[in-house]
Amino acid sequence: MRVRRCAVLWLESREVAHFDLENLLAGGTGIHSQLQWFAHAPHLPAPVVVDADALLLLGELSPLDWVAEMPLREWHGAANLRRLLKSGLLIGSTKPWVAQREADERCRDLHWHGLAAVWHVASRWQGVDSAQGVIDAGVDTAEGLRDKHGAPPPALLERGEAHARIGLPAAPPDTFDALLDARATCRNFDTRALLSLDVLARVLARTFGMRAAMHAADDFDVIKRTSPSGGALHPTECYLIVQRVEGLVPGLYHYHGGAHALETLPMPDGVALADFAKTAVAGQHWFAEAPVLCVLAPRYGRNFWKYRNHPKAYRVCILDVGHLSQTLQLCATQEGLGSFVTAAINEVDIERAFGLDGVVDGPLAVCGFGVRAQAMATYELDPNHKVWPRAGMV
Ligand SMILES: Cc1cc2nc3c(=O)[nH]c(=O)nc-3n(C[C@H](O)[C@H](O)[C@H](O)COP(=O)(O)O)c2cc1C
Repeated sequence: MRVRRCAVLWLESREVAHFDLENLLAGGTGIHSQLQWFAHAPHLPAPVVVDADALLLLGELSPLDWVAEMPLREWHGAANLRRLLKSGLLIGSTKPWVAQREADERCRDLHWHGLAAVWHVASRWQGVDSAQGVIDAGVDTAEGLRDKHGAPPPALLERGEAHARIGLPAAPPDTFDALLDARATCRNFDTRALLSLDVLARVLARTFGMRAAMHAADDFDVIKRTSPSGGALHPTECYLIVQRVEGLVPGLYHYHGGAHALETLPMPDGVALADFAKTAVAGQHWFAEAPVLCVLAPRYGRNFWKYRNHPKAYRVCILDVGHLSQTLQLCATQEGLGSFVTAAINEVDIERAFGLDGVVDGPLAVCGFGVRAQAMATYELDPNHKVWPRAGMV
């Protein structure tokens, strides 16, 4: 057999704390800290703890060139080698290691920039309840945040003396200002109101719909959307969790922006839609109650086809999603609806439900929109009182 190192590897030396009874009984803190090496690789579900010998071996091997396994086995021991092959950090050329090899090859073929791939995978959540997390940490209110972290950097930056500023003409506010000012993150949806199919269709068409298409070269088509996209590649797909829309069966869908149509996707067995919506937004019930949630999920291969192993490519995908989110929120606001975006999402749970891979394609944010509730049960920031003229919590 021949072996090589996996395509992308990042080694982290991390301080790990363990409970130590002996230390406690000897009058210590009961906590024993120890440095451990963790190997991060984007084709693996979790970082792998590695020892000094594994570090040495991984450092010796090329991620490109295959070498014979036998001499390594003699030097590093068969058991050590096997452990690394099993973990997927080392790639073997024979059949028993096909699963690890294919996962690694999928990563190579996609042209992720190595560090971006590690960051992307390491920042995905599964089963996280961020809503409870912030309560437990005491940072669910402005006062809690201030107490815990002290004062934040100021809201406005000054780069010169006030008297030296060049005042700019104030433009009289027009209807576009009114639209911009009316957008405010909605955390209170009317849980009984149905969203009309026409309104859903309009918001989807304006945000994710193909406004024009162009044949750029042989086998290379580009589409135009209302938001900009790096390289005009528009890699971001819109998947929907539909809960309350007139004429639509509640469930999972994919929006086809060319056909302006929804594609029905199967719901995972034994999962209730409302529970899945809440899991998707990491326990934030105020967002989970929206009649429609849109999962914004780039197909990374589409962007990385052009920006191969490029250190900015992942950033561009994130910026694309940000633009789409703002367009969606303005379109929803224009319909008189509330809307939101969140990155506090359980990516892995969403990927499983929609049949996404996570590295090939996967969610970066979830948006939603719908009819606002009459009363504010969850706090909303509305300093210009456009949404809650008689603001106040119930
Ligand atoms: C990228 C991004 C992520 C956000 N994530 C959350 C979130 O997880 N939970 C939440 O309640 N609000 C979230 N928000 C909403 C912000 O809290 C909100 O935009 C901010 O308070 C300003 O209020 P406004 O949107 O009404 O102007 C997010 C906003 C952005 C742009």
